[in-house]
Amino acid sequence: MNFKIIGTGRACPACVKTNDDLTEFLDTSDEWIRTRTGIEERHVMQDGESISQLAVQAARAALENAETDPSELDFVICSTIRGDYITPSMACIVARDLGVRCMAFDLNAACSGFIYALDCAAGYFERGRAKKGLIVSAEAMSKMVDWQDRATCVLFGDAAGAAVLELGDNVLASQLSSNGNVDALNIPHVYGNSPFSHDDAQPSYLHMDGHEVYKFAVNAMATGLAETIQAAGLEQSQIDHVLPHQANMRIIQSAMKKLSIPHDRYRININRYGNTSSACIPVLLDELNQAGKLERGQILALTAFGGGLTNGAMVLRW
Ligand code: UT7
Repeated sequence: MNFKIIGTGRACPACVKTNDDLTEFLDTSDEWIRTRTGIEERHVMQDGESISQLAVQAARAALENAETDPSELDFVICSTIRGDYITPSMACIVARDLGVRCMAFDLNAACSGFIYALDCAAGYFERGRAKKGLIVSAEAMSKMVDWQDRATCVLFGDAAGAAVLELGDNVLASQLSSNGNVDALNIPHVYGNSPFSHDDAQPSYLHMDGHEVYKFAVNAMATGLAETIQAAGLEQSQIDHVLPHQANMRIIQSAMKKLSIPHDRYRININRYGNTSSACIPVLLDELNQAGKLERGQILALTAFGGGLTNGAMVLRW
């Protein structure tokens, strides 16, 4: 046994910044961003907003959609690169605000975090430790990019997505990996003020070798998806919905060419959100669910890549 998804939710900051808005302080253009990435606008947190609040909002929406009372939850797992605190975890804050005392912890697999969290959750169901659980992926990317670096800041946005899981057997196959490439994408940590070690503190901004990540991403998405679909005992033509990590429309299109899944099965919302890291897939999942586009029994294929460099793919029945 593993799980089935019984509810989804999402939350985004109210403030939307278009590409044109960014040209007010950055040497960029709507044309460059649109043609190189497919992004048109992104949600950005403003004063008084916190990523934990967004996570709680998404969690409440998913619980309502699943008609589940928080007291039924056996775990809360959050995937995030950066919660509001190093400790406590974001999951502990979500659990507190939902009024539950079940196990709660964060997991960081960068943009692959939602798939890593689903895979991790499957283990609790398999071991009989859970009947229901909550996954929340919430990312404050706008707080980590250097807003003077046009090569990175235009790519990202803030959001939270959530899913409620229940004991079931809907996960057909999954695959996770990492390749230990620290230089391609990293965000240095806070350094503190220890009198005993004097590290050269680097600014805590996102650094990225876009070309390196691009090459990795296309291969990882195409190979990871193909192998996971095969492990599920399915043909690529049997996939009803592909939910790819929304990092760059050109990455998705290049991966599409390497696969034989019909192109009309790929679901995209990068134009409205940009890259919200591990929140991309659960936000997209909730949009499809709320729009009534997912039918019970349909086959979903999720695929993501990110800092690590990590890679994750999962095939599951809706
Ligand atoms: O979740 C994982 C997150 N990361 C990714 O998925 C990133 C993967 N990589 C990419 O998506 C692409 O490599 C980028 C979108 C980051 C960059 O696209 P590119 O087509 O590889 O552009 P480039 O880096 O080769 O830059 C081309 C030109 C450069 O100018 P010169 O040297 O040719 O004069 C850049 O300085 O575009 C310039 N440029 C920009 N121009 C206007 C870079 N960023 C911008 C910008 N606006 N925002």
